[in-house]
Amino acid sequence: MKIKLTASLPLLFAASLAVTPVYAKRKVVKKQVATQLYRRADASINDRVSDLMSRMTLDEKIMQLNQYIIGLNTNGNNFGYTIEKVPGSIGSVINFSEDIRERNLLQRDAMATRLGIPVLFGYDVIHGYRTIYPIPLATACSWNPQLVEQASHVAASETRASGTEWVFAPMVDVTHDARWGRIAEGYGEDPYLASVMGSAAVNGFQGTDLSSNDRVAACLKHYVGYGCSEGGRDYTSTDISDQAMWDTYLPPFHAAVEAGAWTAMSSFNAINGVPSTANKHYLKDVLKQKFGLKGFVVSDWNAVRQLVAQGYAENQKEAAELAINAGLDMDMIDNIYKENLADLIREGRVSMDAVDDALRRILTVKFELGLFENPYTKEVPEKERILKPEYKAVAEKIAEESMVLLKNEGDVLPLAKSRRLALIGPMVKDRHEILGSWRCFGKDQDVQTLYEGMMDEFGKENIVYAKGCDFDGDDRSGFDEAIRVARSADVIVVMLGEKAAWSGENASRSTLALPVIQEELLRTVAATGKPVVLVISAGRPTELCRVEPLCNSILEIWQPGVCGGTPMAGILSGRINPSGRLAVTFPRSTNQIPVYYNSRPSSRPLEGHYQDISITPQYEFGHGLSYTTYQYGDIKAERLVMNRDETLRLTIDVTNTGNMDGMETVQWFVNDPVSRITRPVKELRHFEKRMIRKGETETFTFDINADKHLSFVDAQGNKFMDDGAYYIMVKDRKIELILK
Ligand code: GLC
Repeated sequence: MKIKLTASLPLLFAASLAVTPVYAKRKVVKKQVATQLYRRADASINDRVSDLMSRMTLDEKIMQLNQYIIGLNTNGNNFGYTIEKVPGSIGSVINFSEDIRERNLLQRDAMATRLGIPVLFGYDVIHGYRTIYPIPLATACSWNPQLVEQASHVAASETRASGTEWVFAPMVDVTHDARWGRIAEGYGEDPYLASVMGSAAVNGFQGTDLSSNDRVAACLKHYVGYGCSEGGRDYTSTDISDQAMWDTYLPPFHAAVEAGAWTAMSSFNAINGVPSTANKHYLKDVLKQKFGLKGFVVSDWNAVRQLVAQGYAENQKEAAELAINAGLDMDMIDNIYKENLADLIREGRVSMDAVDDALRRILTVKFELGLFENPYTKEVPEKERILKPEYKAVAEKIAEESMVLLKNEGDVLPLAKSRRLALIGPMVKDRHEILGSWRCFGKDQDVQTLYEGMMDEFGKENIVYAKGCDFDGDDRSGFDEAIRVARSADVIVVMLGEKAAWSGENASRSTLALPVIQEELLRTVAATGKPVVLVISAGRPTELCRVEPLCNSILEIWQPGVCGGTPMAGILSGRINPSGRLAVTFPRSTNQIPVYYNSRPSSRPLEGHYQDISITPQYEFGHGLSYTTYQYGDIKAERLVMNRDETLRLTIDVTNTGNMDGMETVQWFVNDPVSRITRPVKELRHFEKRMIRKGETETFTFDINADKHLSFVDAQGNKFMDDGAYYIMVKDRKIELILK
């Protein structure tokens, strides 16, 4: 991608002054300040936008609604419209380049254009820029929004310092189908947990001043209902009832807009036959008007052009017309707005108001980011802006709190440091797959492997290793060595999992099971009779029905990023008490999908299930073990009757009855047993994670506000509340509240 080298505007301006008579200089300077309000940082952003728009030609306006790329497109799923030379008049680019100089060269072109409108640089920073922390599904399992906010702030700091000021994150798509590869990128199956985590990510990315050099604009994606992809396949159409849209898929977007998110991205899917990218109801009526999105909506890659493939637009010109008229503000990559909007306006098929509304939204974000005052990124060396120790400390901490102890029988864990350990499996020394999908600029060289973490924790004298097999394939030649190594040890730690490319975009799988070769390796070494600890690294729940009985303990570490080795080893040694809890249900088998905790009551709850497997999942939403034990008291309430307009305090005492400090997450669920729209058997409405020292008791509170915690939404998105009984549940504790 050639970028034309041009002298910057200040140089040209200085050169012109050199030959201008003195008297003219005063007039030129006075003219400059008086007539260009949009350049004045002391003016309101609204006024600056209006002033700038009043000066723009139609072509200049349309170019702001387009996004190209700089650098090399590394997303193999996406094929874009190739632009030989990116013009400085472009509104935005996806910044695939790590070269700040290259970024600034394009920006100089932009600042040298007639009105000097800076380019907006965006990128997919999903779980870190270079300090890659765990995939979002993992961070949701930390149940620690403060940590999610911290990690997002780390990502924002590295991203802004490296020349990008807009991230295509957080992804807040709820899904009930783990076959869908993009489950890795979101916060799991629950609308409330996704709302809390998505809002935390927005706060971490954006902070309170978008112009700060450690903040970026967030982008909520993929709006909306993408996680309801049929069969868990990607890019498919979705059939979503209005009721499900309002009670399941929209809430995280609503919450994150209320948290201040500046932008959103339209999703590939059609919603009941109307593609999101041209869905006026959801883009304009809901996202912009009802939710109040302040900034703009960018399409997903080529999504405007894809309206033709989806059978919604006759041709690209009509695609442009339908998208802009539906409220889709910026066209990612496919150049269709640039090629068609001017004609559509001249033909009266698109109004100038539609273009101006999109333009105002885009320019507002650019002013809020401070790009007019600071269009360039300081070209500082990498070591001053990435992989700082304090960044890696956050990545390690959130990895630690994301890991979930699924099973621990026979007291195998924690492992005594004197034990001889056999580390077996393709994940042990892996430094690539462990970064997961959407690794941004993460590099294998940055990774601490699980092996390195174990060596540091237990000492190399206590560790023997055998890879055993690859992630897939049918090469069993490593099995004999694995058996030999297993026989020589006290405990076998098998580390299995998924490749990074087996989840993420366009990475749906027909089964949640590990490849046969990995299950066979586990079965083979388990046959030695030694205790088995299974460590799983994956971007989705794994089908464990055949391997679970072979293991004393199972630890889910997800894809923990660059700092997974130490926390994982710390949990295995007992230096760390695991505190992760599942943000997604583990089905017993793939065939059990969809299975999720907040389903509606059946007319015959104990009947109608599959006859050949248990009716319960392998592991429930919210599940996670600890090395200590907690004793829950009863739920206490100031009273059991409340009005609609009051707040009622509920409390529950939790005692750490074990001999190890631990962080416990108290999860509060609500059920309305009788409603004009039947409610899920339980709905997460509040949670709190807190340290409880051994032997001590902590009191957890839930200040119930009827409107916020007991209400539901109907198919038009209107809240409603039934009078009468509500159940409030914590674990197996349950009280009945009467709302009157
Ligand atoms: C991709 C993804 C989207 C991403 C965009 C830009 O196709 O669907 O999540 O932000 O294109 O890379």
